[in-house]
Amino acid sequence: MFERPTSGERAVLVHINFPDGAGQEDLQEFTELVGSAGATSVATVTGTRHTPDSRLFIGQGKADEVLAAVEEHDADLVIFNHPLSPTQERNLERLLSCRVVARTGLILDIFAQRARTFEGKLQVELAQLRHLSTRLVRGWTHLERQKGGIGLRGPGETQLESDRRMLNARIKVINARLDKVERQRHQGRRARERADVPSVSLVGYTNAGKSTLFNTLTGAQAYVADQLFATLDPTLRRVDVTGVGPLVLADTVGFIRHLPHDLVAAFRATLEETRTAELLLHVVDAHDPERHAHMEQVNEVLHEIGAEEVPQIRVYNKIDLCDTEPHIEYLEDGQVDRVWVSAITGAGLDLLAEALKTHFHGAQVHGWLHIGPDGGRTRSSLYDIGEVMSEHVDEQGSWWLEICMAQRNIDKIIREAAGECDFLTAESVDFLAGTAQAS
Ligand code: GTP
Repeated sequence: MFERPTSGERAVLVHINFPDGAGQEDLQEFTELVGSAGATSVATVTGTRHTPDSRLFIGQGKADEVLAAVEEHDADLVIFNHPLSPTQERNLERLLSCRVVARTGLILDIFAQRARTFEGKLQVELAQLRHLSTRLVRGWTHLERQKGGIGLRGPGETQLESDRRMLNARIKVINARLDKVERQRHQGRRARERADVPSVSLVGYTNAGKSTLFNTLTGAQAYVADQLFATLDPTLRRVDVTGVGPLVLADTVGFIRHLPHDLVAAFRATLEETRTAELLLHVVDAHDPERHAHMEQVNEVLHEIGAEEVPQIRVYNKIDLCDTEPHIEYLEDGQVDRVWVSAITGAGLDLLAEALKTHFHGAQVHGWLHIGPDGGRTRSSLYDIGEVMSEHVDEQGSWWLEICMAQRNIDKIIREAAGECDFLTAESVDFLAGTAQAS
């Protein structure tokens, strides 16, 4: 017997191949998007066309095939993996007697379901209203052409006009609220900059494991789900990475190919953290056969939002699924290129910390800090940050602390100690010990 799914709307999917490849989307990803929106796909109609039909997008024959699938499976809606013009959407709805959703509408719907913060919700609403207004305006101008015809002026047109006015008023209100939220966010960022806390953004294709990594690194519980776009709002946390110090880590929206432009604009909140970050951790699903294409798409979006210059460390995640040991790969100039980890098992996260350390502080210098008897405060702050490897006190009551730190940080300590301490590298200490023994 035919089993009816118990939850979600029942959708017929339409995916057309265009031989010249223009606007081609991926069927597998489409099916995942539909699942993420909470719908159940009951049938998929595919076909090939050279150009979209202006009236129905697909040809009449294909439309009949879709209609048959809708009737056979008692579907609630038909989802196209393509953009549809308002006219095509209307004509199809009339013909199929059910709701028709285009790819942009589908993605907007997922975004609407996933947004959690006040700002995220406002942004989704704005994107939806903008999407709607292009439809209304076009429908309206289409009627406007007939303005003046006797019998054509009337409530229909007035309704459209007032709809449009309401829509514009709502868009204005949301824009004003967003401006305010954004200003607050800017203030937060300025305060962080003043505090000299570097920011790191997790970016990556949707489902790569960004939120899982974020949670493991911060101990926070950002929303993790095996769904596309589980994360829609920038989630910021302060983390203390051993040897690096405090960082602000941002989890961001998952990227996807052909992200509608409206949405790129609407999600500038989460993407802005990316543009102003000092480092991007580009999370890649090491187990995904499509990972190379996905990385290119992520880089394309980064380029679109002006974040292509921000340095990247690629984090190959999910190595537990592909039998790879955790390891780091360096570029010729010593910069970290890739780190292989598993956010779920925690394997390789120590290497990720090391990579962050190398990135932010450069190579580590091993040696001895000589602190005078009045430098107790410097000594205790070194113990506080956990950098002391061993300690000796000499006859004058001075401390000798063995440390391994970035030169930049050592210089800072010496500056702050204002003459109370100096630094000798391990090599020079060995050398001095050697000459002392010789004499
Ligand atoms: P978006 O919010 O869509 O951008 O997703 P995301 O990149 O934040 O991915 P998320 O952390 O939500 O993880 C997606 C799925 O991958 C979840 O089912 C995770 O449990 C799973 N996952 C994440 N990291 C690992 C890993 O290291 N190993 C395995 N086996 N699964 C993982």
